[in-house]
Amino acid sequence: MSEPVGLDRNLTDYGDRDFARYLRRSFARSMGYSGTMLERPVVGIATAPSDFNNCHRTTPELVAAVKRGVIAAGGLPLEFPTISLGEVFLSPTSLVFRNLMSMDVEEMIRAQPMDAVVLIGGCDKTTPAQLMGALSANVPAIYLTIGPMMTGRYHGERLGACTDCRRFWGAYRRGEIDARAIGAIEGNLATTAGTCAVMGTASTMASLTEALGLSLPGCAAIPAVHADRLRMAEASGTRAVALAREQLRPADLVTAQSVENALRVLMAIGGSTNAVIHLTAIAGRAGVAVDLARLNALAQTTPTLVDLKPVGQGYMEDLAAAGGVGAVLREIRDLLHLDCRTVAGETLAERLAAHDPWVDRTVVRSRAEPCAPQGGLVALFGSLAPNGAILKQAAADPKLFEHEGRAVVFSGLDDLARRIDDPALDVEPDDVLVLQNAGPLGAGMPEAGYLPIPGRLARRGVKDMVRVSDARMSGTAYGTVVLHVSPEAALGGPLALVRSGDRIRLSVARKRIDLLVSDEALARRRAAWCAPVKPARGYARLYAENVLQAEHGCDFGFLRAVAGA
Ligand code: FES
Repeated sequence: MSEPVGLDRNLTDYGDRDFARYLRRSFARSMGYSGTMLERPVVGIATAPSDFNNCHRTTPELVAAVKRGVIAAGGLPLEFPTISLGEVFLSPTSLVFRNLMSMDVEEMIRAQPMDAVVLIGGCDKTTPAQLMGALSANVPAIYLTIGPMMTGRYHGERLGACTDCRRFWGAYRRGEIDARAIGAIEGNLATTAGTCAVMGTASTMASLTEALGLSLPGCAAIPAVHADRLRMAEASGTRAVALAREQLRPADLVTAQSVENALRVLMAIGGSTNAVIHLTAIAGRAGVAVDLARLNALAQTTPTLVDLKPVGQGYMEDLAAAGGVGAVLREIRDLLHLDCRTVAGETLAERLAAHDPWVDRTVVRSRAEPCAPQGGLVALFGSLAPNGAILKQAAADPKLFEHEGRAVVFSGLDDLARRIDDPALDVEPDDVLVLQNAGPLGAGMPEAGYLPIPGRLARRGVKDMVRVSDARMSGTAYGTVVLHVSPEAALGGPLALVRSGDRIRLSVARKRIDLLVSDEALARRRAAWCAPVKPARGYARLYAENVLQAEHGCDFGFLRAVAGA
């Protein structure tokens, strides 16, 4: 018997399949569809709009364009909502809810009758959540990125969320601009629909999605409000109908080779540290491991080519005009696995041969004149991070790459907020700021690893210090910030044992971060350490009992691929 198609898939269990089919079709007809339409293959459209999500506010027009493409190609488009993760509207932090959204996406794709699915999203945690869910469901899927915001202007200066948010906030904290100016800037940082305008986490994940072959060529960089974005949506809908016929599935595309391609692109674009966590989680759903030592090897042999903020000058709209991710892929062609298939139905080699070779070299540099000879990220190991940590060296001050300093420890986010601007805080520019208990288990791993420069040092003009934590950092931030320290403090990792006054040594050359304290002293401190109490109920408990450490992508153990399942 052939596999059911369209609305006949995944029939509701009544113990009578013909009755279930008859009932479903009668209810579907109540929505005004003709019998002919109900015979078509179904393309689900997974959306995540919300009044709490500014980034996704173009969803309705994208859905309309996708539907146009699906209908023109002979399919029946059916939109369905999932939860929405507006990055700055969630407490304690959006990462906590990424896995929840991935479960929502997976289960709704699996439970509802669809032959293929178009996933529409873009804000930081949405893309990884949707890809994780789609991979686990493994129904033919295509990703349509929302697209980045356009830039705004303030006093003649070009602004874009959110690198400029942080730059001006730093200036305000240093007393260089006043409250009136920061208020005016606030109204000009995010002026259109779309995701953050720089190569932050959202844009990085959009680029990696294209590199993995899960979205159509050119999808990542087109601005949210550009007409090309709507044409991309229509083309994605059209292609989804073909995918349903071909049964090309996400797990056919996400392989060890395509994940390695994505890591190469991550280096070449100077992408976000968060992408290491998300790509690890996405790959984990396909049974592919991301090894931090391998990440270092790839970083060493992949130049940084894209000159965008937060590490360079431009914005995502410049990358779109410069040739997009395709221009980056072409420039590192010899480093890629070119036989990887893409959702467009071609190999990466065919894609790169077919597209316009023009490129704006002020945005996408040539291999001969890269922004940096190596990738922007480095994984660190050592006595402070036995299972790894991440530093975005491209966004750090090279003067601090080889640095030893005295630890100034904050025991958690509340302690940080209470004391960082205390005029009596004992801190000097050469010290190492340490934040504990901000890891995946401890606090949901907020983007708090970019500790502010203590007020009294900021006013002296100090702009960067070595900072170490088990937290994450926004992809739009910069500084000498060691993140994702694992095991985290809330699990009793060495980070939990650091005390103010200890010495910490960072060596980017040796890829190490070490706590210079004797084993005896650490054993005494470990004996006195107490594990935090886990939440009593609900999603918070599910999260606390199942979240994995950063090197495993902070996924839930029970959601990762199971061999043979
Ligand atoms: Fe949505 Fe930055 S807040 S991408």
